[in-house]
Amino acid sequence: MAETRVRRPRRFLVCEPRHFEVRYAINPWMRPDAPVDAELARTQWRTLISAYRDHGHTVEEIDPVPGLPDMVFAANSAIVVGGRVFGSLFHAQERRPESEHYDAWFKTAGYDVYRPLSVTEGEGDLVWTGRYVLAGTGFRTSREAHREVQEFFGHPVIALTLVDPYFYHLDTALFVLDDDNIVYYPEAFSAGSQEVLRRLYPDAVLATRDDALAFGLNSVSDGRHVFIAPQAEALAARLDDHGYTPVPVDLSELHKAGGGIKCCTQEIRS
Ligand code: ARG
Repeated sequence: MAETRVRRPRRFLVCEPRHFEVRYAINPWMRPDAPVDAELARTQWRTLISAYRDHGHTVEEIDPVPGLPDMVFAANSAIVVGGRVFGSLFHAQERRPESEHYDAWFKTAGYDVYRPLSVTEGEGDLVWTGRYVLAGTGFRTSREAHREVQEFFGHPVIALTLVDPYFYHLDTALFVLDDDNIVYYPEAFSAGSQEVLRRLYPDAVLATRDDALAFGLNSVSDGRHVFIAPQAEALAARLDDHGYTPVPVDLSELHKAGGGIKCCTQEIRS
């Protein structure tokens, strides 16, 4: 029989896609010439926020800024562990101005923000597991940044090399289910990194390329409920077998910018 999974209430920071568009291409999903339905993006996004609130999570909002269409991807703004905020330094020039707005939000909320010296894209590449930080590199966040993260938090940082441009951020290839387990798509990682993941998580739930292409790895788990793209049907069924409850939320318009549920969600861990 499947185990009983326990939900832990979370605090999230999100940013409405009020100025959402695909104006530049900084990952293989983005097609500036293809139409984006901004109104649909907002409606879909609101469904996610309602789903979080309906499941007992606290959601706080930062005001979106015109001209910063990727600001909706709040996960990239920082990583927060133990009430300490490690800010971002975006790889793409187009996204760099987002940081001052997010830093200002955190400061108003009573946090000091550490400004990194090397390229770091927050929870896009830095995933807190409860014991250490899994840290992606290869496309965005640099190895130097991993060292800064370890110095800042004093928690071990485990470097993982991403190799498939469609899964350019760690949070498109892996997510944490709870303190003990993760889900990931092995082929998104270098051979050595796959070995590291096998050693750390021998019982991990493994995803397929189809699950990953459906943004199924860009999910948020509260320990029991997994907010997941409905397109990742096969993965959702496997999670159900493992005793988790999938909560499907469709962000198909945001997929056009290369982002999904997790990308839209910054977790504030006190
Ligand atoms: N267009 C954005 C970029 O390429 C999408 C970011 C997605 N965020 C994420 N956490 N994976 O930077």
